[in-house]
Amino acid sequence: MSQFLEDVLKGLSAKEKYLQSKYFYDANGDKLFQRIMASKEYYPTKCEMEIFAQQTNELVAVLTGQSKEFDIVELGAGDATKSIHLLKGLLDNQVSFTYFPVDISANVIDLLHYELPKKLPALKLQGLNGEYFKMLEKAKTLPDKIKVVLFLGSNIGNVPLEKAGEFSTSLRAHLKPGDLVLIGFDLKKDPKTILDAYNDSSGFTRDFNLNLLLRINKELQGNFNLDNFYHYPTYDPATGATKSYIVSKVEQQVSIGEKTFGFAKGEPIFMEISQKYTVEQTDELAKQTGFELIHHFYDSKKWFLDAIWRCV
Ligand code: AVI
Repeated sequence: MSQFLEDVLKGLSAKEKYLQSKYFYDANGDKLFQRIMASKEYYPTKCEMEIFAQQTNELVAVLTGQSKEFDIVELGAGDATKSIHLLKGLLDNQVSFTYFPVDISANVIDLLHYELPKKLPALKLQGLNGEYFKMLEKAKTLPDKIKVVLFLGSNIGNVPLEKAGEFSTSLRAHLKPGDLVLIGFDLKKDPKTILDAYNDSSGFTRDFNLNLLLRINKELQGNFNLDNFYHYPTYDPATGATKSYIVSKVEQQVSIGEKTFGFAKGEPIFMEISQKYTVEQTDELAKQTGFELIHHFYDSKKWFLDAIWRCV
């Protein structure tokens, strides 16, 4: 049984049904995510892009102030549109480094190998195709330089708050004292702004969520009728948790291969969490998991934080 099938059956058999958001990203999901990022309501990408594009020199200065030589490992590199500013800034300042983008998608890595040398001919590049922690294990066998790990895009937000400590502790366990992490957090702000970002008027986020049901239909012989479900995003300003659900409009049965699942009218499937943080919470996370804070970078609205942490 594939891991995908196993996870889907487990999630839909649970008392409170859920699916894992890591499965959003098939080819169609990737396209929809690009559209979300370009939508007027989804601000995190634009805020972080502003930090990388407008504070490149400061980023270079803080990193080179810690170490004159290092290698860069980017977890979930995607198309590297944000990090390319930093890579260029480092090259312009004659910093010697190799860039190791890590991505679960082989296509992403192939594309980076094709595109990046055109834009940055002097860049030393070695893509690592696989899961974050497996690739960080592999990175341990690389030349023993200080590592700067980029974990951008508020990807840590897709880990529930109570598991973020575990994630950060594992990250620390894969690194050595002196290694650096540049990590992006989406900050708590006006609740309406946050909710709108997960409920865009063009419906890209709705389609992004429903696409996982389509993927189950295509890849796991499911028979979800998408017209019988709707997308329901929530934001709780007290906890900072944005949660997305898919809700059944009617009482119905859905089959996946041999298995059948019953849905009551109004029953939700929990799809994704996107946790929002206070700055103090991020500082505490660093302290509790073996890092010391080196620097905070904010966009001009102070909606997004890129923090630089050092392994102690
Ligand atoms: C990838 N991740 C940080 C995005 C987020 O904001 O949680 C995924 C996303 N889901 C809906 N819109 C964007």
